Amino acid sequence: MKELIHTCHYKLCDYTELTEQDRQLVDAARHATEQSYAPYSHFHVGAAALLSDGTVVTGNNQENAAYPSGLCAERTTLFYAGAAHPDKPVVALAIAAYTEGAFTQTPISPCGACRQVMLEIEKRHHCPIRILLYGTEGTYIIEGGVTELLPLTFDASFLQ
Ligand code: THU
Repeated sequence: MKELIHTCHYKLCDYTELTEQDRQLVDAARHATEQSYAPYSHFHVGAAALLSDGTVVTGNNQENAAYPSGLCAERTTLFYAGAAHPDKPVVALAIAAYTEGAFTQTPISPCGACRQVMLEIEKRHHCPIRILLYGTEGTYIIEGGVTELLPLTFDASFLQ
């Protein structure tokens, strides 16, 4: 029997250490929290996707009284990017969350369903998504794409 280990490589970076481009994307995600519709959880999540041509698309979580009908910020943003710019790879995605009057200290990490959607987009465009998870105590930078966060993935190759 073999034991196999999946590791996640990520960097912890102070806000002031971010490159100008990363800071702009993180700021766009932070700003996007302001238009989140989260009357049930009061947990306002914003996301900003950087596309291959430099376009930035933002979105936020949209909740619903029928809870499962709502959607996370990441998927709202990525589906909008796919709808409006179907031919442009997503090269980076920043995420921020605001609740109880402040951004979270620790970065939040995308849920499983959002990770799966990120995987589909990576496969579709053959381009890993650089992931920036913002928290007031530091930003996690995941350079290697969503497979760092999602081991043993299921994708279209299994359907052939
Ligand atoms: N949420 C996101 O939008 N993204 C995440 O990564 C985690 C959770 C939303 C879903 C729901 O509207 C609220 O945060 C509380 O779970």
